[in-house]
Amino acid sequence: MKKSRSLLGIEQLEPAEISRVLRLARRMHGARPRPLLRNRRIALLFYEPSTRTRVSFEFAAKALGAITTLVQATASSIEKGESLVDTGLTLRATGADAIVIRHPSSGAPHLLARHLDIPVINAGDGMHEHPTQALLDAYTILRHRKQLRGLKIAIVGDIYHSRVARSNIHLLSKCGAQVVLCGPPELLPEVAASLGPGVRITRHIDEALRGADVVMVLRVQQERLAGLQLHMDEYIAGYQVTPERMRLAKRDAILMHPGPMIRGAELAGDLADTPASVITEQVANGVCVRMAVLLTALGAAP
Ligand code: NCD
Repeated sequence: MKKSRSLLGIEQLEPAEISRVLRLARRMHGARPRPLLRNRRIALLFYEPSTRTRVSFEFAAKALGAITTLVQATASSIEKGESLVDTGLTLRATGADAIVIRHPSSGAPHLLARHLDIPVINAGDGMHEHPTQALLDAYTILRHRKQLRGLKIAIVGDIYHSRVARSNIHLLSKCGAQVVLCGPPELLPEVAASLGPGVRITRHIDEALRGADVVMVLRVQQERLAGLQLHMDEYIAGYQVTPERMRLAKRDAILMHPGPMIRGAELAGDLADTPASVITEQVANGVCVRMAVLLTALGAAP
């Protein structure tokens, strides 16, 4: 029996482990479904809204023959005040073999993993990490480029509040990409450059996009601004990714966004529908990548 293990973040992973998951995802991509997780029970514990992440975890689990149940903060005993750890122990007692958790507090999956003897998979914790999103983003880039090493990857937008940005910065810099972060000081503190080797910051979007292989756009996380007064018209003037700005990137550059995107805010209205956009592909790739993550976590990789 192979050892099962949690996926809490990208920060703790070695490049070899990242490659292993991506290779497994490639094998799962479009493959005939095999019940490698037949009758395994996977609890999806979501304390925050989610569309893509939840649905793709559920489809990934079911494609492998697993049984899933969705527990949401409303409509469960969480609403009655049950603690996170007690909720986890309850799920374990009902026979859950793994828990996929999204939570508004950074570190919530780590707390759960410390108290449980089943794998915990982080589906986004506060402003901290969103490892499966970074894995599916890397997977998507590698469908368009041979390797991550040496690529110029611009990440534009609300980086400070973004767990997607943090996980991507860890992954891309570990794998040798040049990561250029771009946003206003309120949404991108200088310290972000210390997240990994090869990471730098610019306040000028033209500089970020010039010669980029990949342009990754992030939503302004209004729900996490907590009193911060951000003038959206100024933000749009300085940082919105537009067709003109996109032309500074390489001719075959790809445009990415983890979703949900707010058209007309962080990116110009129909940019998502242009040939450079791989945004829908990212969503589609989420399924095979999460199949690979679940198989790895449950020690069931073929
Ligand atoms: C993001 C999230 O929830 O972290 N979405 C996602 O999972 N793809 C990004 C966001 O909310 O802006």
